[in-house]
Amino acid sequence: MSELHVMDHPLIRHKVAIIRDKNTGPKEFRELVDEVATLMAYEVTRDMPLEEVEIETPITKDKFKMIAGKKMGIVPILRAGLGMLDGVLKLIPAARVGHIGLYRDPETLEAVEYYCKLPTDIEERDLLVVDPMLATGNTAMEAIKFLKDRNPRSIKLMVLIAAPEGVKKIQEAHPDIDIWTAALDEKLNDHAYIVPGLGDAGDRLYGTK
Ligand code: URA
Repeated sequence: MSELHVMDHPLIRHKVAIIRDKNTGPKEFRELVDEVATLMAYEVTRDMPLEEVEIETPITKDKFKMIAGKKMGIVPILRAGLGMLDGVLKLIPAARVGHIGLYRDPETLEAVEYYCKLPTDIEERDLLVVDPMLATGNTAMEAIKFLKDRNPRSIKLMVLIAAPEGVKKIQEAHPDIDIWTAALDEKLNDHAYIVPGLGDAGDRLYGTK
């Protein structure tokens, strides 16, 4: 069963509270989303495997633990996922980046991939899918489906704010995928916005309406 990890670090909670404030403008919003993404990446990578490597210090040679050649891929879901990308790359600079964009066909209601560019060696990579809002969960569910078709080694999902409805959708559709969120909110409203949430993450990041 997929695990849900809700971050309880005071720095994350404090920064997410400011992000939620409707008076926080795009510049500060972007900076805080970036910072929270970095702090979350620290937690999400906690299970990275280590190996012993011999290092020569100025004093002596000894064996030390280093990350065991783990190949990662960060996949922001367009467009709001881009707001979390740099924050993750700060901690995992060698990761490759894939982009995925989806829209819902108004006739068929099927998710259509309008943009997808992924690392060529995706089969050797552990993917971290990032998107600030897990609302209905439809977009993340479909994005993960598209990614699974390309056979990555593993997939994790990292969001800023999750609604219980979105968590349920992912857990039912992808019981093998663990979810990390900075906050678990109350519910969705009639327009599928998260309550209390932060409004439209893409608009708040980029100052659009
Ligand atoms: N997408 C957003 O940007 N905000 C929500 O509250 C729900 C979906």
